[in-house]
Amino acid sequence: MASSQAAAFGLKDPSLIKFQGLIDGKWIDAKDGEKIIVTNPATLEELGTVPDMGLAETKEAIDAAARAFPAWSTTTAKHRHDILIKFFALMKEHHDDLGRLITLENGKTLAEGKGENAYSASFVEWFAEEAVRTYGENIPTPFQNSRNIVIKQPVGVVSILTPWNFPSAMITRKLGAALAAGCTTVIKPPPETPFSALALAELAHRAGVPDGVINVVPTLKNVNEVGREMCESKIVKKVTFTGSTPVAKLLYKMAASTLKKVSLEAGGNAPFIVFDDANIDEAVAAAVICKFRGSGQTCVCANRIYVQSSVYAEFASRLAEKVSAFKIGNGLEEGTTHGPLIHSRAVEKVARHVDDAVAKGAQVLVGGKAIPNTSFFMPTVLSDVPTNAILNSEETFGPLAALVKFETEEEVIKLANSTDVGLAGYFFSRDIGRVWRVAERLEVGMVGANIGAMSHTSLPFGGIKESGIGREGSHGIAEYMNTKLIVFGELGY
Ligand code: SIN
Repeated sequence: MASSQAAAFGLKDPSLIKFQGLIDGKWIDAKDGEKIIVTNPATLEELGTVPDMGLAETKEAIDAAARAFPAWSTTTAKHRHDILIKFFALMKEHHDDLGRLITLENGKTLAEGKGENAYSASFVEWFAEEAVRTYGENIPTPFQNSRNIVIKQPVGVVSILTPWNFPSAMITRKLGAALAAGCTTVIKPPPETPFSALALAELAHRAGVPDGVINVVPTLKNVNEVGREMCESKIVKKVTFTGSTPVAKLLYKMAASTLKKVSLEAGGNAPFIVFDDANIDEAVAAAVICKFRGSGQTCVCANRIYVQSSVYAEFASRLAEKVSAFKIGNGLEEGTTHGPLIHSRAVEKVARHVDDAVAKGAQVLVGGKAIPNTSFFMPTVLSDVPTNAILNSEETFGPLAALVKFETEEEVIKLANSTDVGLAGYFFSRDIGRVWRVAERLEVGMVGANIGAMSHTSLPFGGIKESGIGREGSHGIAEYMNTKLIVFGELGY
């Protein structure tokens, strides 16, 4: 039964499809037999089921990770490097399958699904290379007859909670760093896209990651108690999360009960500013990518597009022309440029933002409507969006480009910074003075100056304000390590 279900995914290697959770190296069902039904957002057809696990399974997973920690954390960095490089190679070998799987459960186009697998694998490769460079320090001594060193040690068991918008890459950005550092893990994948997480765990196992080092606990109905255990358990030493700001705040509070380390990559509401001295061609092309990647479902997507009044009409008509040419559809089909949203709640949110902006005076240039009985919302461009529209303070997370007119640099900086969150911000200008001023004044963790896409493994990803705590990618392995000072006395100098 499971093998015919797996075959329906159409992968070259159907054994990558797992319909069970993973605890201590064993694929298992939920104790109460409950299941989560996973659907393809493009067709609304059932893809398959995974167990809906609860508190008991979570505790077992945490215990398994704790048992695996002493051995894994004392392997050599080179050993972990080698296993991660094998894991990376397997992700490349199964590139087509893993890309297809992402498309099937998330809905993004196949090109985006494969793009995500490449992005995801790059974190595994990157952190393999970081594993062997977690150097400490030797500090000139302030005491007679002594020497001082600082070493880095893995923090311990890590809880990993990830979102559906990047079913694979948001796992490896955390898991790669955790494994490289010598930590063991419990992953709670999103209920919408658990199959990519389970396939990654299978490949990691094939690469030689020992039992118990990676545990995967899918959950839906018990999400509150599972999340609480993952944050409050005294055994867990770090929580890492990507998702919404309200959930990040909840997890932060729970993790505070044991003063755990946290990395929280929460929501954004990115401003995208086009000044009158911008290269308009470049700005339009960048807005298309920045706004509509993953059908607008990324934390770094432009949410508010501010255009200076003298170039407003030109920018609006050029952007509208590009967006009118999009072809929405099933991401597996040739010619589809943009896939569906993840579920009907996401569609309803976009509709609410459009309706609110229109009721307050915005004009629909393109789209503006959901497609009934599907998870699709037409790619939309709104002009003359007023600054009191809800989308100025709430992330839309959908294919809605909202154009707001502005007059001066001072005014737009104030508007851009007028939210509680601060993840990414973008602007286009060819005035070098303005480039410096605006880059420094935008209250965000990542600024794209004359560029609309800046995520890369080697660059620090993360926000300020209510967009989160900590940085991922780049030197992110440090977030999974403790710094320990050792002072040696009585050395006889
Ligand atoms: C996210 O949406 O949370 C991640 C986006 C990225 O890595 O570019």
